[in-house]
Amino acid sequence: MSLSKTLKPFALLLGAVFAITPPGAFADDLTVKVGFSAPLTGANAGYGKDLQNGVQMAIDEANAQKIKIGKQVAHFVLVAEDDQADPRIGVQAAQKLADANVAVVVGHFNSGTTIPASQVYESAGIPMIDPAATNPTITNRGFANTFMVISTDAQNAGNAGTYAVQVTKAKRIAIIDDRTAFGQGEADEFEKAVKAAGGNIVTREYTDNHAVDFSTQLTRIKATNADLIFFGGLDTQAAAIAKKMKQLGMNAQLLGGGGVQDPEFIKLAGDTAEGAMAWEYGRPLAQMPAGKEFARKFKAKFGEDILSYAPFGYDATWAAIKAMQAAGSASPSAYRPKLKSINFEGVTGTISFDSTGALKSGASTLYQVKDGEWHPVVTKTGT
Ligand code: ALA
Repeated sequence: MSLSKTLKPFALLLGAVFAITPPGAFADDLTVKVGFSAPLTGANAGYGKDLQNGVQMAIDEANAQKIKIGKQVAHFVLVAEDDQADPRIGVQAAQKLADANVAVVVGHFNSGTTIPASQVYESAGIPMIDPAATNPTITNRGFANTFMVISTDAQNAGNAGTYAVQVTKAKRIAIIDDRTAFGQGEADEFEKAVKAAGGNIVTREYTDNHAVDFSTQLTRIKATNADLIFFGGLDTQAAAIAKKMKQLGMNAQLLGGGGVQDPEFIKLAGDTAEGAMAWEYGRPLAQMPAGKEFARKFKAKFGEDILSYAPFGYDATWAAIKAMQAAGSASPSAYRPKLKSINFEGVTGTISFDSTGALKSGASTLYQVKDGEWHPVVTKTGT
């Protein structure tokens, strides 16, 4: 038998081993698939990409640290699915991740995709750690596999409503929402809090999340002489509303809920951004012990600044990794109990969950645009 014939089985074996072993990993490493889903195309793709970068940063750090799960060095790999911010595609993306046997899912971004997708993960027994979607329904259903590292709109929009009445002292409040699970949900929470504080809602208008023109709603609001307008929706539409308000000569205070306090809003709204207010989940990153360093590393790695939720994506991913480490296993049934009792200092704050999977010590911060930049005004814990 020739030498090449003798070696052939070994060559085949080696080929097979390298074919299934990700680059940088050894054959006896444990490959752990980290599922991720968010909008990676379409109008919300900027948010999705930002989140994905946060997840990738945690994965790269964990791989560099050669973290052990049980006796094996873990090699974490990202499996990303674009949910296009569409609830129907979100469910398909969730099914693909479940079929790929991911150990965890970090996602999604929109409440409208997260609510139905979380049902898929619940049935598959795969923990989903939500870094961005904030409708309170997400953790209100008692799912064993649903966790949130971000506070809910009951807290964020609730604070917005109370503050608008008690501190801003708005007397005539108008509301517009984008009719998504997120926008409508936060507008409902805002309205509830305004009413509980004895405030006066003069009108409630709505649009949809693809609209670009808000003349009809704003003309109606102008006729009510509203002094504050709360918008339940995301940055691009909030910026178009700020511009249209200026065109219509409206002086009412524009107030956003989550997803508005970012550089994109200022870029799109230009001068009309000045004075706008928005409540955003968590504490200002620059005030967190590891916040500035995180922002610096993020910029060095990806060549761009954080847009919004990347730090939450990073903390969500580390929550899963730490739980797997503590359990000595990446199998959901083995590490889920460790996730439930986890407690660590993330970039965004203390990460620990209550019995429903909601973030225990969530905070919420009001920002205002001054001289073309967002500045924190006040941070609230609780509602
Ligand atoms: N917080 C936003 C949502 O829930 C992104 O859709």
